[in-house]
Amino acid sequence: MSASNEVRRISPSAVRARKGQTPLVVLTAYTTPIARLVDPHCDVVLVGDSVAMVLHGHDTTLGATMEMMILHGQAVARGLSRALLVIDMPFGSYEEGPEQAFRNAARIMRETGAAAVKLEGGVHMAETIAFLTARGIPVMAHIGLTPQSVNTLGGYKVQGRGSDSTRIREDAVAVEAAGAFSVVFEKLPESLARELSAALTIPTIGIGASAACDGQVLVVDDMLGLFTSFRPKFVRRYAELGETAETAIAAYAEDVRARRFPAPEHTFPDEVPSR
Ligand code: KIV
Repeated sequence: MSASNEVRRISPSAVRARKGQTPLVVLTAYTTPIARLVDPHCDVVLVGDSVAMVLHGHDTTLGATMEMMILHGQAVARGLSRALLVIDMPFGSYEEGPEQAFRNAARIMRETGAAAVKLEGGVHMAETIAFLTARGIPVMAHIGLTPQSVNTLGGYKVQGRGSDSTRIREDAVAVEAAGAFSVVFEKLPESLARELSAALTIPTIGIGASAACDGQVLVVDDMLGLFTSFRPKFVRRYAELGETAETAIAAYAEDVRARRFPAPEHTFPDEVPSR
């Protein structure tokens, strides 16, 4: 590729500099083909620990492991040429302290080529965020509803309502002061998301936190209608690929049962070279 054709990757500092400009487009991806589809349209592609639920059938994100995040991170990295790749630190890989977090974040970056990690937590994670950023690891923070804490939060409820808004304000200020280059707001009331997005100097990326944020992140399988076990209220479905796939699989099953499949010397008219 000539220098003039070279696609420049979006960096964490470029994401940070987008504050107050065009909203940031963020989607998850877990595989190479989906990464190739989202790359031209997204600023950031997140290998979320939601992979444990969406692709591996776990009930919560607590089932994600370092190995899972690295394997999917490597697959997604192969499909990206433009978007910033961010990988979630899985439950249990960073909470013990800054050294453990550094060791695991460095491994994720080394083995996948990701330029940043995301971790959940506000005030209590500020020391870790500062430790990582001071040592070359850009951190996207994640506050509000933090799904890895589902067992202590008591479910997937909207956070920061009423007097609980103080906790969220403190978390937002703490992660920014610690050096996070951006912060995910999950399930926050619009008024609080608006207030904090105006107060912070880093971009806020909402998921179920309204258009008052500086961008939005969705789980790609949710917005494509591929993950159908449940449907978060805030997700707009842009396609119903689950239904399309089911119809196609049923048609295939019908063809096979009716012996409508070709002998080796026959090909379908639109067939491309097979594996
Ligand atoms: O794991 C994930 O996909 C996430 C996003 C939904 C923010 O953390």
